[in-house]
Amino acid sequence: NIPVIAVDGPSGVGKGTLCQALANHLNWHLLDSGAIYRVLALSALQQNIALDDTKQLATLALGLPLTFDSNSDDVKVLLDGMDVSRDIRTEETGGAASKVASINEVRVALLQRQRDFRQLPGLVADGRDMGTVVFTDAPVKIFLDASAQSRAERRMKQLQDKQIHAKFGEILQEITARDERDRNRAVAPLKPAVDALIIDTTSLSIQDVFNQSIMYIKE
Ligand code: CDP
Repeated sequence: NIPVIAVDGPSGVGKGTLCQALANHLNWHLLDSGAIYRVLALSALQQNIALDDTKQLATLALGLPLTFDSNSDDVKVLLDGMDVSRDIRTEETGGAASKVASINEVRVALLQRQRDFRQLPGLVADGRDMGTVVFTDAPVKIFLDASAQSRAERRMKQLQDKQIHAKFGEILQEITARDERDRNRAVAPLKPAVDALIIDTTSLSIQDVFNQSIMYIKE
């Protein structure tokens, strides 16, 4: 059975950074499941498909021409061969992603695509339901949490680094609204798996979180 480290948590909590560091350290594959939902949302917006159109979204999800190009330093996300790595990172796309992600048919359509990332020597999976739905048998499950304020601060910095313009108040509001939706939806709501290690990262550095995770993995 190919090992998986499932990392879940709300937005801006540092999952992406932790997962990339773990995957590099272990030399394992990386699944950024949020990018899949973001690309689906972007594609729906581009094609004027309503974000609550279950049938069309499920069809779009099944055939989504999405590839990850990990040859460069930064993983590139391609939609139909076009680099959309930047476009998918806006809060607008994040909000749209959380809307399409609340539809059960969409989640079912994307299930196998995510499970296909489970390849030797192992997988680090980043998302909302990695430990609770997609990889329920993962031997290691980690749930990161942090205050909304500190998550908004991190997201602000991340966007600034990418030179994407953002206002703090708006980011905080959008992050809070998105979390509410992710936590309260009927399907695959954001919550820790019963067997997950919960780490509150509010006052921890990236290095602290990495060290705690590695210690836990090696146990
Ligand atoms: O970057 P950030 O953590 O803010 O978000 P993301 O991981 O890119 O995910 C964007 C949205 O996709 C989330 O707000 C969720 O609604 C949805 N998502 C999901 O439902 N299940 C996943 N496994 C990953 C993301």
